[in-house]
Amino acid sequence: MRRVSMRQWEFASSPHLGSTEGAAMADEDGQLWYLKDWGLPYKNKTANELLGNDLYRAAGVLVPEVVTDETGRFHASRWVEGRPLSDLTSEELDRVRADAQDGFMVDAWLSNWDVAGTGNMRLGDDGRVWRIDAGGALFFHAMGVARRLGRHARADVESMRDPAVATEQGAKLFADVSEQALIRGAEMVASVSARTIQQLSAKAQFALDADLRLDTQVIIDRRNDIADLFGLMVED
Ligand SMILES: Nc1ncnc2c1ncn2[C@@H]1O[C@H](COP(=O)(O)OP(=O)(O)OP(=O)(O)O)[C@@H](O)[C@H]1O
Ligand SMILES: [Mg+2]
Repeated sequence: MRRVSMRQWEFASSPHLGSTEGAAMADEDGQLWYLKDWGLPYKNKTANELLGNDLYRAAGVLVPEVVTDETGRFHASRWVEGRPLSDLTSEELDRVRADAQDGFMVDAWLSNWDVAGTGNMRLGDDGRVWRIDAGGALFFHAMGVARRLGRHARADVESMRDPAVATEQGAKLFADVSEQALIRGAEMVASVSARTIQQLSAKAQFALDADLRLDTQVIIDRRNDIADLFGLMVED
């Protein structure tokens, strides 16, 4: 995650694609970004989304680069050319389902209940599945309401693919996730060292209110909980 000046950025679309205020923006070099304005009070939500995105990347899940401005109010992700998963026909979805499911354990680790929500995953023109909205991971719900994150991830491992509990889109994508995909995903989660988690949290810290700390230990505990499911080793 980098902090950049966005003063020269220009609108490339009219605002309001999502439930937070946002717009496609072009930077000085013509690169497109999706810029999200968390509004006030913004800080903790920006830190949360930056960290969620960084943790996805650290685990090996495909996410766009994200940047923020000097203040931490604005969050931007590098534009992914492609189509939302929700726009695919069921035949098209069947072809990319396995790719999407490989990241499921990481979704559960980060408790990203809304990952399969409308527009939050894209089939890139590169043929890969991208996760583009970590705003509802970790310590906030998708609409920006703070929540308590439990120390045990395995409840999410079950509920996020259970048609009786999961979001409709989540169940559609994850209900038939295979044991092999769960193991591969758990290996991705277990591969992130506690030190990396601490370093990434520390990087996001600038965007937090002064009296707040991201609860890094709960993220590490949740990683351990997933690793324990399959007896995997973890690193300090
Ligand atoms: N990196 C990106 N590349 C392409 N499109 C993007 C990208 N980021 C966001 N978008 C588009 O903007 C929409 C809103 O972005 P995002 O999901 O991050 O915000 P949100 O406010 O949480 O929206 P929602 O509540 O609709 O999920 C996405 O659904 C997608 O259509
Ligand atoms: Mg979204």
